[in-house]
Order: sequence, then structure tokens, then C-alpha cells
Amino acid sequence: DLSVPQITRILQHSLSLKQRSEHLVKPFVSETRQKNLQKPTASLAGKSIALLFSKRSTRTRLAAETSAHLLGGSALFLGREDIQLGVNESSRDTARVIGGMCEGIFARVGEHEEIEELARYSPVPVLNALSSLWHPTQILADLLTLHEHAHLFNAGEPKAGHSTSKGTTPAVLPSLTVAYVGDSANVLHDMLVTYPRLGHRLRIASPPQYRAPKPVWDRVQELGCDKGIWWGENPREAVQGADVVVTDTWISMGQEAEKTQRLKAFEGYQVTEALCKEGGANPDWKFLHCLPRKPDEVDDEVFYGPRSLVFPEADNRKWTIMALFDLLFGRWDLDAKSVKA
Ligand code: CP
Ligand code: NVA
Repeated sequence: DLSVPQITRILQHSLSLKQRSEHLVKPFVSETRQKNLQKPTASLAGKSIALLFSKRSTRTRLAAETSAHLLGGSALFLGREDIQLGVNESSRDTARVIGGMCEGIFARVGEHEEIEELARYSPVPVLNALSSLWHPTQILADLLTLHEHAHLFNAGEPKAGHSTSKGTTPAVLPSLTVAYVGDSANVLHDMLVTYPRLGHRLRIASPPQYRAPKPVWDRVQELGCDKGIWWGENPREAVQGADVVVTDTWISMGQEAEKTQRLKAFEGYQVTEALCKEGGANPDWKFLHCLPRKPDEVDDEVFYGPRSLVFPEADNRKWTIMALFDLLFGRWDLDAKSVKA
């Protein structure tokens, strides 16, 4: 649902929050630097955010709880076993009740319709922490990670306007070729509606029966993103000229019963050095994965190797979610031109 200026603003704010929290993440920041750091505003002071999670989570939950804390507020984790939702109470009634006591809802749901229902009836903003179709906060972290590593894609030649992560403006990324090899799942779906709008090309390979469902593709077309997307079956063809290669699990949460058929369908789709070399990826290609990772979709050499940005990417879940919480739940101010410290 975010416009390009909103995405840019969130990325800028994420970077600024990350730098202002530097003394917390890096214990050896000098005293002078600590004094000069403007701490993040306590925009959630006295506020509570409901984390309504019907599926497991490590990163998204940690990012939400730790960033609500840094913004001076509380996050209440409401797992599927904890509350009446789904057993004794409807989404509609739950949304109204939570909204009466909390200032925001961050929800991880099964079917996407569940979050639409929450948003329809909630008196406070609802933010998608993952659904069957979409995983929007993941793509913000991926973009922040690419911006922080922009120098790798600029071949070491900073252009006019190029800034590093020392500034509060995300570095200017050149137009990238981003390849995705694997399942058409929630993470890819948000890439489809985001990367082409930011001027990047997407090249995707998936087995033909695992293509974006209609509601996703309708949205891709509505946003004019289809023109920036190449989609085939051959992973080698997909990685041609790729600056970044991305994948996700072949078995998303809730698809465990399909494991055997999925492992068979995705044979040959594992991201490896050999695959990317044979396919003609940019020799300096980098690797992203939302995590959690299974070795099926990417081997250890790539996952733990120097191309892999997966752990900085995981860390950036925190700063991007913190920016969203600050702007959306703390200030209700996603559109204003500037954010004061
Ligand atoms: N990437 C991600 O959403 O991880 P979790 O499922 O652990 O939150
Ligand atoms: N596609 C994966 C993403 C996990 C963060 C899933 O939905 O399980």
C-alpha cells in the first residue's frame, strides 16, 4: 500500500533511527559520540502495540518487541494459544477490542483476508507482519540492506549524490537486476510490487505451477510493475546479469503437508555458485534471504559465504519496523515531509 515517496521516507527514517541507536547496538561508541547522538523520540511512551501473531516468528517478533521498547512503549505478544480469536471470538470483535486498548496492531495471519478483516474493523492502524500473500516489512529491510551496500553495486565509484551509511540519506542505488529463484510466496510478492517501481529489474524462475496467484498479479499490473518483470522456469536464465540473487523457503508456514511434492517440484532450483556462474550472474552478485533458511533452497557455500547479506538483512528488520512503528503508531504521520528527532 506504500507509495514510492513513503518507501523512501521509511528507509531514510530507518537509517536515522539505526544511527541514533548506535550506542545501544555498538557498546564501544565513544563518549563524545554518545553525547552527540540524538536518541530516538519516545513516540510510543504510554502506548501499547498488539502483536497479534497466529504463526511462528523469530525476527519479526524480536524486531517489534525491541523497537517498541526503544520508542518508550510496550509490545504485547498475543499468540494463537493466548487469546479468544479463532476459537471463541471473530476477527471483527477482536480488532475492535484490541483497538480500544492499544494504539496499533502488528498482525501475522494465515489467509490474507484475515488481516483485511482486522484492518476493516480496527479503530487503530493495522500493519501486516506476514500473511499468505504478502510480507511487506521484509522488503523494507531488504531495501535498507541494499542501500547500505550500495558501494558494492557502484563498483567502488561514488557518483554525485552518493552517500554512505554515515549520512541519514540512504545511498543512491544504481538500477539493479534482482533475480529470484524459487517459490512464488509472500516475500516475492512484495518484491513484485516494489522493485519495479523503484527502477530495478526483476528476473524470476519458478516451476510453472508455482506462480503468483491472481490477486497478487492483478496488483502487480495495477501498479504497472509487470513491465519490469521477466518470469520463466529456468533458474539459469533468471540469474543472467543478476546483481542480487534472492530466494525463500520452498515450504512456507502452513504448507508442511505439501513438503514431498514441493521438494520434487523445486529440484534444480537451489541457489549455488555453480548455478549463478553458469547462468551468467554479475561476478560480484550478492545474496539475500528473509530467513528462516533451509539448505534445500541455498547451499552453505553461498549462505555463509562472502556474497551473503542475510544477517545484516535480518538486523535491518529491527530498524525498518521501528521506523514504521514510530511513524504509523507513534506519530500517525507517514506522509509528512520531515521527521523531527
Ligand atoms: N523473515 C521473517 O519474517 O522471519 P520470522 O518468521 O522469524 O519473523
Ligand atoms: N515464505 C515464508 C516467509 C517466512 C518469513 C513463510 O511464509 O513461511
